[in-house]
Parts: sequence; structure tokens; C-alpha cells
Amino acid sequence: MLVEMVVSTKLLTLLSIISLIISTSTAQTSLRPKALVLPITKDISSTTPQYVTQIKQRTPLVPIKLTIDLGGGYLWVNCEKGNYVSSTSKPTLCTSSQCSLFASHGCNSENICARSPTNTITGVSSYGDIHSDIVSVQSTDGNNPGRVVSVPNFLFICGSNVVQKDLAKGVKGMAGLGRTKVSIFSQFSSAFSFNRKFAICLGSSTRSKGVLFFGDGPYNLNMDVSKTLTFTPLVTNPFSTSPSSFLGEPSYEYFIDVKSIRVSGKNVPLNKTLLKIDTKNGVGGTKISTVNPYTIMETSIYKAVVDAFVKELGAPTVEPVAPFGTCFATKDISFSRMGPGVPSIDFVLQNEDVLWSIIGANSMVSLENDVICLGFVDAGSNPKASQVGFVVGGSKPMTSITIGAHQLENNFLQFDLAASRLGFRSLFLEHTNCDNFNFTSSV
Ligand SMILES: *[C@@H]1O[C@H](CO)[C@@H](O)[C@H](O)[C@H]1NC(C)=O
Ligand SMILES: *[C@@H]1O[C@H](CO)[C@@H](O)[C@H](O)[C@H]1NC(C)=O
Repeated sequence: MLVEMVVSTKLLTLLSIISLIISTSTAQTSLRPKALVLPITKDISSTTPQYVTQIKQRTPLVPIKLTIDLGGGYLWVNCEKGNYVSSTSKPTLCTSSQCSLFASHGCNSENICARSPTNTITGVSSYGDIHSDIVSVQSTDGNNPGRVVSVPNFLFICGSNVVQKDLAKGVKGMAGLGRTKVSIFSQFSSAFSFNRKFAICLGSSTRSKGVLFFGDGPYNLNMDVSKTLTFTPLVTNPFSTSPSSFLGEPSYEYFIDVKSIRVSGKNVPLNKTLLKIDTKNGVGGTKISTVNPYTIMETSIYKAVVDAFVKELGAPTVEPVAPFGTCFATKDISFSRMGPGVPSIDFVLQNEDVLWSIIGANSMVSLENDVICLGFVDAGSNPKASQVGFVVGGSKPMTSITIGAHQLENNFLQFDLAASRLGFRSLFLEHTNCDNFNFTSSV
């Protein structure tokens, strides 16, 4: 555009103005961070394990803990009386362009834009005004956290005590990373003009830190894990499957196209129709979730996978412990660095050579009393697990497979929205894990 201006005007004075503009924007570029980094802690203080991050927000800045929701559409924090103090918080007016980004469904009497904040773990939702305030996080070169950077007018929805209920201890809201224009991913990407990429790595221990990156790699977890990724296309669902959405709203969650499932390399017989997303109603398909602690499968898929797994493992099952339906005695299972020695469960993706393999450390859950269970949940016998929430004015389409957080732990996932693909790698196979980012600041 600048070049066109030069050509069309050919004025020397304008040229000098332009060079001034160029030098100023170069200066800004050099100050612009390459990427951002946030820690993730696994928190088991509530009824379900949650993956919690922390940002700083408000004036004066205070640390705010948030439960991460990969498919969530926005940031919401509790603003109910006494919970929110800031001299820089501003309401978003109904007539503003920011309001339209939220696909808002209402305004309050003071003309403030509103959208329901939802706790996607409990499905509880309420009325919430949209505000903006300063948010501050650490930048990174991919090796260490660096300089702190800020976004002055970061948009969020005001939640309340009822919506916050059942989030982990000290957590004040949820950080949505979904496909909306106002998810925390989208807001950071546009504030710093990053490539539209983020990466998430959930740790398996409550004592160490996993990591969330906004922007491109390197991502140094004892090695640059961005170099190890396998890619599969991200697909979209034209119908929302998340708790509390509106009829006709598209899904903001991340779906991939699982074409078949193998156990120990053998194909599991499945009704393939269920693996595809029905574009007429949004039913079916496979999505990835950080708020569902375990992978949930439609009943017929669950049964077929379990049958194949039990047969391949060849160990007797014991009385199952809810929410699981398939458990074994720990003494009947061998263990190695890769976790329990059990048949690998492979999701076959765009072709027969692209596999998301779930090894023992991700498939099995050790419980007390020497019981170990297959960490998959039958959606049929536990509808609440997959059917939290509702669609206003319609029914919520059921997703056939929701890959849950236990199956994501120590897997590095990069969501590349520019190329519409997911990069993934089990870090067990690289002899590293999600806890290996060096959180010692370099500044
Ligand atoms: C496969 O699933 C689809 C969608 O639920 C159903 O309509 C169809 O009847 C099923 N096919 C078989 C062979 O069970
Ligand atoms: C972590 O980073 C700090 C700061 O750059 C450095 O001094 C330290 O040696 C690093 N630690 C490890 C284990 O690499």
C-alpha cells in the first residue's frame, strides 16, 4: 500500500513522511514479542481435575487464576461485588464494534454489551456484561520467559459467584482458547500480530508446570518440540456442541477427523457414520477438550474399543470404578517408563500412516486399592459427562468422541489456525515431557 502511494503521488515530501512512518513501525516491530508463555498447573482441589493458568489483570495489576478451556469462546472472570477492583476497567457499549465480536445477545439498561459467561465444567451460565481492562503476561523467545508485555483493552465477560462455583481453589474464571475473534488466543494474536498459532502441553503432575505458548516456536522443552510434530487438518462443526450456546451458532471448539480406530494395530469394527460430523445437525465427529478429564465415547464406539482392548490385553477385568467401565487389578499389568504396558489405542487420521497413538501412560488411570482402569468413559451410561449444558432454543448435538485431558497429558499440541491444522506429538516418544520448559526468567 505504501508503494502504491509513492507511485501515484511521486511527491518527495510525501516520500520523507513515508520513510518516517516506516522507521516508526520498524521500531515497534522490534519491541513486539515473538511469542508469549503462560504456565499451566494441574489442580485436583475440585471434583474434576482442572488445568489452571495465571495472567495479571487490572490496575493495579493482580494475578488471576483461570481454568483453561480449549474450546471456550472467551475470557470470563468473576466481577461480582468485591471480586473486581480496577481503575482501568471499561464497559463495552452495545454500539461498539467490540460488542459485535461477541455475537452478543443482549444489552443491559445502561447500553452495555452482554453475553452469558459459562462454566463449561458445570454447565452453569448467567447474565454478564462485557468489559475491557489491561492484561499483562510474559513474552518468550521459546527458551525462557522474557519481558512482560501488556494488552491495554483486553475484552472479557463478567461472571459471578454462581458461575465460578466448582472451579479449582482460587480460580476466578475461565480462559477460552477457541475459534472466536475474542478468545484469549485471538486477542493475543491480534494485539501482537502473531502467526495465528498457539501450543498447549498439559503436565501430568500437580507439582510441576505444563506450558501454553501464543505464537510460533521454537518451543524448548529440553529440545525444540516444534520440530517433532505430526500434522492433521482441523475441521469445523457448523453447530455448537458446547454448554450454553444459541441455536444456529457454529462450534468454536477444535475437531479433528478420526477415520478409524486401531487397538494393537488391529482395526476396531465401528459405525463410520458416527466418526463424521453430520453437517445437517452437528452430530458426530471427534473434538479435543481440556475441561473433560477423560475421553468420552458414544456407546457403540466405547463398547467396540473396550472389547478389542480387553481381548488384546488378555488380563481379567475387575469390578469397575465410576466413571470408568473397564478396570483391572494393578498386579496383572506390567509397567515401564511409558507407563502401564497395555495395547496401544490408535486414532487413524487423514490416512493410514497418520496415527494419534495413545500409550499406557495416557490410556490408563491408577486408582486406590490396586485397581487400574481404562481412562475412557461411556457417553451412553454417563450422559452428563458429555451433555453438560444446553442449547438455547434447540438440543445440543452429541459428539461421538471427546478426547479428554488425561489423554492429552505430556502430548504437545500446536493449533495452527492459519494453516487450519493440528500439530501433535507424544513427548514420551521424545524422552521429554510438558514440565520441561525453563520458567526461570531471562530478564
Ligand atoms: C450408524 O450410525 C448412524 C448414525 O447414528 C445410524 O443412522 C446408522 O443406522 C448406523 N448404522 C448401523 C449399521 O448401525
Ligand atoms: C534456566 O534458565 C536460566 C536463565 O536463562 C539459566 O540460568 C538456567 O541455567 C536454566 N536452567 C536449566 C536447567 O537449563
